[in-house]
Amino acid sequence: MPRKIDIFDTTLRDGEQTPGISLNVAEKLEIARQLERLSVDVIEAGFPIASKGDFNAVKAIAENVKGPVIAALARANFKDIDCAAEALKAAARPRIHTFIASSPIHMKYKLKMTEEQVLEAAVAAVKRAKSYVEDVEFSAEDASRSDIEFLCKLYAAAIEAGATVINVPDTVGYTMPKEFSNLIKTLMEKIPKIENVKVSVHCHDDLGMAVANSLEAVAAGATQIECAVNGLGERAGNAALEEVVMALDTRKDIYGVTHNINTKQIYRTSKMISTITGVAIQPNKAIVGANAFAHESGIHQHGVLAEKSTYEIMSPQSIGLTTNRLVLGKHSGRHAFAERLKELGYELSQDELNKAFERFKDLADRKKDITDMDIEAIVEDQVIKLPQHIELDYFQVSTGNKSIATATVRVKINEDTIEEASTGDGPIDAIYKALDRACNVNCKLVDYSIRSVSGGKDALGEVTVKVEKEGRTFLGRGLSTDIIEASAIAYVSALNKILYNGGYCKA
Ligand code: KIV
Ligand code: ZN
Repeated sequence: MPRKIDIFDTTLRDGEQTPGISLNVAEKLEIARQLERLSVDVIEAGFPIASKGDFNAVKAIAENVKGPVIAALARANFKDIDCAAEALKAAARPRIHTFIASSPIHMKYKLKMTEEQVLEAAVAAVKRAKSYVEDVEFSAEDASRSDIEFLCKLYAAAIEAGATVINVPDTVGYTMPKEFSNLIKTLMEKIPKIENVKVSVHCHDDLGMAVANSLEAVAAGATQIECAVNGLGERAGNAALEEVVMALDTRKDIYGVTHNINTKQIYRTSKMISTITGVAIQPNKAIVGANAFAHESGIHQHGVLAEKSTYEIMSPQSIGLTTNRLVLGKHSGRHAFAERLKELGYELSQDELNKAFERFKDLADRKKDITDMDIEAIVEDQVIKLPQHIELDYFQVSTGNKSIATATVRVKINEDTIEEASTGDGPIDAIYKALDRACNVNCKLVDYSIRSVSGGKDALGEVTVKVEKEGRTFLGRGLSTDIIEASAIAYVSALNKILYNGGYCKA
């Protein structure tokens, strides 16, 4: 029987530590639901002690997502662990993940603790976590720069105290594949009773080795990989889930292991997370980049037409990528639309379907041919929409290279209708200033980007904005064939998040 590797997804915890990302509870829950469809074994839902928002997100995920194990992170102290246990109360399969640093550099400068003190804290933490849940993971932070004798002693003590998983993090992305493989082999040989627990790895990508290190660890005997979708995570990120999984699949001949991941959900998950986080995927990114299955040179195109395997080591269909067919248009009915959604892997409620169909019809009035990418964009946009306190009712913009841009906006804020106007340095500046006045929300625009969803002059434009208020970052997204409208919608959606704020969560 091939060994089964658990895929532990940390997009919502380490991934959320990506600079510039902040997700609210509704967004985290939506991501967790998609991770469940992807069939990850474990969702690390957050770090409950870090903030009220993080606590609420872990709690909401524990209450609503019942398939995978739901893990919550806690430092090796009782306060963190009690908080994680509280957040996980409703989970069907809870796991507390507790950690403490084990490298000389971290113990001396960060913790100011001796080896003995670290060992004592680790044992106490595992025992405390065990008093709440059966499944306890213990991580020795910065394991790859730790003294091997001490590391073995620490993991052995954690196992003795009841840990069910021991995790070996390459916290600063320092280790090299051969070295990491040797480390895992040594731990497997030297730690008593290690065969009774799962051996996990958690690799960061500072030197671009996270995926290679994770795979080498599997070859050396590890049984769990911690990773994040699109390689999100602290600094250079974590091992990319999609790369790890597709490497295990494509090179079964080397690794000979199985996993639970439904690879057909990879593309959709990656896209959704990029949309929600606002972190774009580079075109040449392995597996999920726009060019990952594109063949540019004539020689390559000729080869692929003759026989796909000449230049394709895996099929686009295996990650759920459909060819971007021209599917529907103005005359397509609800049935055809619903069918196409099903083929794309969406399961919408009747109400969601009605709303999506309305948007589709609206788009079909403005755009001749509607592609799968357009459909995905409108559905994703709708699925992650928060309650809108502010609604953009009307806008008008006048601009030109020899005139001052002016904008008028009318917004509905709860029961009130407010109209404002402003001039600006270009139409976007004018409309954003008018919206600031109308909504009376004082915030700073820190980032603005625009891309076309599909090709053609009538393409849907997708605008992403980041605004800052009181040191917090809020992301807004707008979709329209009119880029000024998309810009206004994106800004209003960021303003709505500021008002929604209760769900804002970043330590
Ligand atoms: O990188 C790291 O060491 C971590 C631990 C908390 C597992 O994220
Ligand atoms: Zn990490």
